Amino acid sequence: MFKKTILCIGAGYVGGPTMAMIANKCPDYKVLVVDINDERIAEWNSGKPPIYEPGLEELVNTNLNKNLFFSGNVAEGIAEADIIFVSVNTPTKTYGKGAGKSADLKFWELTAREIKKYSKANKIVVEKSTLPVRTAKAMERILHAGNPDVHFEVLSNPEFLAEGTAIRDLNTPDRVLIGGNETDSGQKAIQELIDIYSHWVDADRIITSNVWSSELSKLVANAFLAQRISSINSISALCEATEANVKDVAKAVGMDSRIGSKFLNASVGFGGSCFKKDILNLVYLCEHYGLPEVAEYWEQVVLMNDYQRNRFVEKIIQSMFNTLAGKQITLLGFAFKANTGDTRESPAIYVAKSLLDEQANIVISDPQALDYAKKDLADCVGNIEYCEDPYTATTGSHAILIMTEWNEYKDLDYKKIYESMEKPAFLFDGRNILDHANLHKIGFNVYPLGTPPLLNI
Ligand code: UDX
Ligand code: UDX
Repeated sequence: MFKKTILCIGAGYVGGPTMAMIANKCPDYKVLVVDINDERIAEWNSGKPPIYEPGLEELVNTNLNKNLFFSGNVAEGIAEADIIFVSVNTPTKTYGKGAGKSADLKFWELTAREIKKYSKANKIVVEKSTLPVRTAKAMERILHAGNPDVHFEVLSNPEFLAEGTAIRDLNTPDRVLIGGNETDSGQKAIQELIDIYSHWVDADRIITSNVWSSELSKLVANAFLAQRISSINSISALCEATEANVKDVAKAVGMDSRIGSKFLNASVGFGGSCFKKDILNLVYLCEHYGLPEVAEYWEQVVLMNDYQRNRFVEKIIQSMFNTLAGKQITLLGFAFKANTGDTRESPAIYVAKSLLDEQANIVISDPQALDYAKKDLADCVGNIEYCEDPYTATTGSHAILIMTEWNEYKDLDYKKIYESMEKPAFLFDGRNILDHANLHKIGFNVYPLGTPPLLNI
């Protein structure tokens, strides 16, 4: 028999891997994951998870139907659970007040109302989704309104995993953060969550705070990470205009132990479901609390990311003789980063659309993300081909754009590719992962990021 039942509502990129890890580390708990999307649940149950994440399939299948279960029955799951994690999506609002900035909490509130409806006994409700500060308090009010016999303790336990390394991040987290009320029942609930994580995380890495600090910490962590990328990307523009190389600058700056070397790779721009959404959320909060200077400061991180993407496209147009009409351009990579099939907010979407506006013919290649790419560009007018094999995808092209830092792109036979392309052949390395001097020697006109181009003609 199991000690307790953990339920997770939302079987997405966060809920699925997190619960698979908890099930794996805590055989004494039953872990049940529910989702309103039956198709997604069927995929989790099929042994082939709906998301690509290294190590995930093995982890799920080791525990599936032992103490890890996926189901479409949300009501039954809620009734049975002692602890409920909520990891439903919280996109940026597209309508009404705060449109384009604040988080859309409609799924969260609907979920809270479902929890209230089907709960017959006391429960702990854990926020896993990233939410605006003070959401937990609102949820507590919804949960308790008209339900005096059942007590809900709401905790904040933000997820810091990054896609592509989710399993490693979950297995050896830098820290686990738990926010709870400073009351006795709040502290007791925190301890229940500590008991779960203590199965595999050292005590000194499990930190606690009040709920608001925990909610805010998640937004701030993502804002700081994105800020580093925007900072180095801003410098990449300066390096291209001078004789500096952004890689050398990043290395020299990052070796200062106060700064640190991670997250200083200049790129065509950051993507992913979190950074932009969370920063805009932070901006909205600052505006709401009457702090326009602080709001503006953080908004600049997003604006710099837009600038970097625009700059990339403008460089392509300008260097290819100011016309792309009728030219074939191949995007190597469409995922927002390597080792995931996720394309949410991927800079490749923006770049592809801009090239189509210029009437280029585009070919999209990616080892994992072609299905999502097709959906992302479904409404676009123009000539788009999808092709997984990078050699076929580049044959006859005028230019190659490296959009995702997939390892396999580092080891392609670029001589063979060059020979199959139209001349002059252009290569724009939006991730700075290739051997630019060698590409130049082969004959390409090479445009790295953050250093002047290497031209043949
Ligand atoms: C989501 C949020 O986007 C992010 O802010 C948060 O930090 C973690 O949760 P992710 O797991 O990547 O991230 O989202 P997604 O893959 O879209 O998964 C959410 C799942 O919730 C979907 O499968 C969706 O069907 C499900 N869902 C949504 C419900 O089960 N009920 C709802 O009411 C709404
Ligand atoms: C991020 C946070 O890292 C994670 O803690 C949080 O829980 C969710 O949001 P994720 O979006 O999955 O995770 O991936 P991340 O590795 O942070 O990369 C985000 C984007 O930044 C990607 O597009 C990536 O290519 C880009 N990036 C990252 C750079 O352009 N340069 C870098 O140096 C690092």
